[in-house]
Amino acid sequence: KIPYVVGSKSPTAVAINSASKAGEWIKSRLGLIKEINTKCSPQDLVTDVDKGAELMIRKLILTHFPDHSILGEEGVEPGAEASERALNQAKEAEYLWIIDPIDGTTNFVQGFPFFCVSIALAYRGEVIIGVIYDPIRDEMFVAEKGKGAYVHGNPMKVSRDEKLADSVLAVGFNPDRSYALPVNMKGINALADRTLSLRAAGSAALHLAYVAAGRLGGYCEVGLNAWDIAAGALLVKESGGMVTDTTGNPYDIGVRRLVASNGRIHQELLDVLKNAEATGV
Ligand code: IPD
Ligand code: CA
Ligand code: CA
Ligand code: CA
Repeated sequence: KIPYVVGSKSPTAVAINSASKAGEWIKSRLGLIKEINTKCSPQDLVTDVDKGAELMIRKLILTHFPDHSILGEEGVEPGAEASERALNQAKEAEYLWIIDPIDGTTNFVQGFPFFCVSIALAYRGEVIIGVIYDPIRDEMFVAEKGKGAYVHGNPMKVSRDEKLADSVLAVGFNPDRSYALPVNMKGINALADRTLSLRAAGSAALHLAYVAAGRLGGYCEVGLNAWDIAAGALLVKESGGMVTDTTGNPYDIGVRRLVASNGRIHQELLDVLKNAEATGV
């Protein structure tokens, strides 16, 4: 049972409203970006809209739950070490909101219509609510621990693919060129040969929502952060899928090397990544 906080609005309603408000605003700023900066590498972009959306979401959440903690991408110093530190500090909190204001910033900058808002709530380190909103298609993906996952109110189920060879998978071109991208490329090479096809649409969270909805058989990427994954991992699990790290350990909010699938193809997927030395360990 979800340990709901006493209050006039449930945390799920607050997550949905915040994602929806931020998403509408982000959509209205498409093509009207005022400022683009880089973070850890020339490929790691951030805009005034990322920052504005995060502030908007923080404010809405804190209005309802002033004593909750928040971990948001744009509130953390760039770089793997700083995010590790921030997560370690944050996960001690009883209630922790984990926010990615725009997942798919490069797409947003390009005007490539595949990005989303991702909001999760963890209770004592375990994700209990996950909401992902795609403002372009107006799709609201919602999961509550133990209560299933829904897209606009309709229950979701992962794909029925039994074999990797029958599955379309998503992968990611992580902006970390020094470590994560080379690891991902090994996986991409190996999977290109073993799957029906591959996609790299540039939003970790939406890839996960699509695995939950049965539109993709699986998704893997090395070098992600808690805010890329938290909401999507719950969506996949609540839709009957499986989420682990690249060595097969179950998902927790510290996982950065991610493998998500419909469950049926999971072991095959882990084996291919391991043989290709694409596990990042
Ligand atoms: C990125 C996207 C991208 C993935 C990167 C993420 P951002 O998040 O999810 O698809 O390849 O690893 O960092 O920076 O757009 O929120
Ligand atoms: Ca980013
Ligand atoms: Ca992200
Ligand atoms: Ca982001």
